[in-house]
Amino acid sequence: MPLISMLMTKLASREEMLALLDWFQAMGVDAAVDDSSCDWLARGPKAPGADYVWRHSEVPSTPGESAANARISPRPGTAAPPAARPRAATPLGASEAEIGARKIARQATSLEALETALREFDGCGLKATATKLCFYRGAAKADLMIVGEAPGRDEDLEGKPFVGRAGQLLDKMLSTIGLGEPDVHITNIVYWRPPGNRTPTPQEALACRPFLERQIELVEPKIVVAVGGAAAKELFGVAEGIMRLRGKWRNVTIGERTIAAIATLHPAYLLRTPAAKQLAWQDLLQIRSKIRA
Ligand code: URA
Repeated sequence: MPLISMLMTKLASREEMLALLDWFQAMGVDAAVDDSSCDWLARGPKAPGADYVWRHSEVPSTPGESAANARISPRPGTAAPPAARPRAATPLGASEAEIGARKIARQATSLEALETALREFDGCGLKATATKLCFYRGAAKADLMIVGEAPGRDEDLEGKPFVGRAGQLLDKMLSTIGLGEPDVHITNIVYWRPPGNRTPTPQEALACRPFLERQIELVEPKIVVAVGGAAAKELFGVAEGIMRLRGKWRNVTIGERTIAAIATLHPAYLLRTPAAKQLAWQDLLQIRSKIRA
């Protein structure tokens, strides 16, 4: 019996079934392989979905070309697949995606134009499974720019970075140094939620990087704060862990500008490890001094 059917028969109530669906969604399940349950084990060693092939002529071949027509087609004699959500053209190579992104991002002369360019950009595979683009929240111009790892579930539903529990803690942290949403610009190294909240891959971060760099140029911050290890590694181009990276000032050069940058602990980590809040507090004091300098 397939795993899903087996689970469903064991579930007593509607609430439990809804909870299971929630869990599938959180794990990044976005499409059913088939519209009725079947015993894949009884079908032999063929992988589920092996009967479906991409119709390559329908897959957009150039970056930026609309992918709305890309569909999975059944082999003759097999059941039609369930209607799938239109997918973005994910199989661009990382450097191909980055080159395309750089060309588009450079042309944006405002955050609005950059957001429009991002909405049309199909070079980051995360777009295929995300619900909404999460561009930024806060001020369009700000002395302090916060860069996190990636949108999570709440952000994906709302279309704004750091609006879930971690975001609420981030807001509290900022308020302890006298800053509110109108004083900061908050974004992430990738603009779409990774399935199951996994860490974005280097390819996904690379595809979004030209947009982030252009965003930094347009926001003109005095200070950039990388929140968490993934953001710090991506922004600083280093491999060390966050405990080594945090709390030390360094310079990042974006376009013509060199900007002071620092890494601190991710609020999601602080929610799990309250004892580490004292380290985050030390970082916040450094950020406050630098802003006031
Ligand atoms: N964690 C992040 O790094 N970014 C968000 O937007 C939300 C949670």
